[in-house]
Amino acid sequence: MPHNDPPKLDMKNWKSFIDQYGVLTDSLWLLGERDDSGAHGELHHGGFIPQLPRQALLRFTKPYDTVIDCFSGYGTTLIECRRWGRHGLGVELDKEIFETGQRRIEQEPNNYDVKTLVVQGDSVSFNFREKLQEAGLENAALAVLHPPYHDIIKYGDGVDNLCNAPSLEMFLEKYGSVVENVGGALKPEGYLELVIGDKYGKGEWIPLGFHLMKETLEKGFRLKSICVKNIENTMAKRNRINLWKYRALKSGFYFFKHEYIMFFQRKT
Ligand SMILES: C[S@@+](CC[C@H](N)C(=O)[O-])C[C@H]1O[C@@H](n2cnc3c(N)ncnc32)[C@H](O)[C@@H]1O
Repeated sequence: MPHNDPPKLDMKNWKSFIDQYGVLTDSLWLLGERDDSGAHGELHHGGFIPQLPRQALLRFTKPYDTVIDCFSGYGTTLIECRRWGRHGLGVELDKEIFETGQRRIEQEPNNYDVKTLVVQGDSVSFNFREKLQEAGLENAALAVLHPPYHDIIKYGDGVDNLCNAPSLEMFLEKYGSVVENVGGALKPEGYLELVIGDKYGKGEWIPLGFHLMKETLEKGFRLKSICVKNIENTMAKRNRINLWKYRALKSGFYFFKHEYIMFFQRKT
């Protein structure tokens, strides 16, 4: 059983809370090294840094609230759920990635005795509410969405995988269906954290972030914040920085050094 209670933002003690946990309150997120402690140790291409779900968990959920991750990948959000005493439900389509995620989540100690369930499924059609009810969990206070940046990284061959959507329009449509679907398993006023970067295609900047923002707004959410985070030392760019600078100059663009973290709230 837990020795003490999970962290809780208390407006009477907000200053000590944000200092103790490094909680951010402005929109420019210059984050340092990826936290590789505990079960986060292994690095997987395409996973996000644990600080991203952590910021949302600490600000927008209370101890033992439920968090849903619709694209749970290698399990980063659910590992954070264990660490900070929140229940978690993750859905991941790709079998191999799902199994890796499951294994990693189990490596994190469960000091607060929370439920962290991960299921192999398609978030477009997955019945989140039913699964929460089955597990004896309430509707979620927070949904975390870190979808593929369309076709930038291949996360398996499945036709339903958003990375294999045959066009940008179909990618957006599928993403919109996931938002609508998970919205039904969120509490009224519950939060949605979207982590997304833009991409290039045929010599053009494709603003995936703004497209997905629009999709989310159309599915019954209000925008609370757009934060911008730095990208440093990703596996792909490490040691190739001069090549990226050369390519940027030659082709008349700027290479990506930022991603978006957008926060939305479900309208009641
Ligand atoms: C950007 S990665 C998420 C990584 C995750 N945040 C982590 O840290 O490990 C996106 C994930 O979404 C999964 N995915 C794509 N389409 C999906 C769908 N329709 N339903 C559920 N998962 C899906 C991919 O297989 C991939 O693992």
